[in-house]
Amino acid sequence: MRTRLVVGNWKMNNTVTESVAAVETFVQHVDAKSSVDVVICPPYLAIPRLRDLLRNTHIKVGAQDVFWAESGAFTGKVSAKMLDEFCVSHVIVGHSETRGRFGKLETPENTLGYFAESGATINLKISALLYRAMSPILCVGETASEREAGQTEAVIRTQLEEALTGLDAAELYGTVLAYEPVWAIGTGNTCDSAEAQRVCKFIRGVVGELFDEHVASELRILYGGSVKSSNSRELFSQPDIDGGLVGGASLDPTEFSLIVMSA
Ligand code: PGA
Repeated sequence: MRTRLVVGNWKMNNTVTESVAAVETFVQHVDAKSSVDVVICPPYLAIPRLRDLLRNTHIKVGAQDVFWAESGAFTGKVSAKMLDEFCVSHVIVGHSETRGRFGKLETPENTLGYFAESGATINLKISALLYRAMSPILCVGETASEREAGQTEAVIRTQLEEALTGLDAAELYGTVLAYEPVWAIGTGNTCDSAEAQRVCKFIRGVVGELFDEHVASELRILYGGSVKSSNSRELFSQPDIDGGLVGGASLDPTEFSLIVMSA
C-alpha cells in the first residue's frame, strides 16, 4: 500500500518572513491526523526556520535542488551534507526548470546556460542524496513539441534510464518519481487525468523493466503541472498517481491544504 504524498514546490517565492506566515496558516488548516505525507520545499534560506516550526507535525521540509559534491569550490551551490544538517527529507531533482527546459520562456535568453541539468548530473545528485538517506523526487516529462511529435514515451524512458543508471533496486525504495509534462507547468493546462494515469502507469512499467516489479509497485509516482484543488481529487484517484507535486497552488496555504485533503 503506497501512502499518498503531496509536495509543495515554492520555487523562488516567499522570503523567510513570508514562508513562516504561510506555514503557520497552512498548519492551522491541514488535518494533523491526516494519513497523507506532506513535504514543503521552500527556498533554501527558509529551511532552518520551517524545520523548527514543523518539528512536531507530520509535515516535512524538502529542498528544491542540490549539488552532488559534498563541499569544494562550487560558488553558490548547496550540498546534500548541508541539507542533512537541517533534517531535509526530500529534494527535487530534474525539474524542467533546472533542466533548462522551460515550457515557456518569460525572458528571451536561453536558460540552459544558467541551469543546464542533464541526465548525468541528475544521476550524480540522486546518488549524493541516497548516500545521505534523503529521498530524491525525480521529475520527468515531455515538452509540448515532444508530445506533438509522438515522443512522450521515448523522452521519459531516456530520462529515467539516464537518471537511475547505476542504482540498485533497494535504493529506489526511498525515491519518488514525478510525472511533470513541461507544457502543463505553470500554464493552467493540466494534463487530463486519464492521460496522466496512462503516463504514470508507463513510468511504473519502465521502472519495473529497469529494476523489478516489486520495487515498481512500491514506488510513489506523483503528477505535477497546474494541480489545483478543483482537479486534484480526480488526478489523485487514478490508480498509478500517488499524489502531487504542486507549484503555484502550494503558495496559497488554504488552497494547498484543500489539495492535501483531497489526497
Ligand atoms: P505548477 O508547477 O503547479 O505551478 O504548474 C508544478 C511544478 O513546477 O512542479
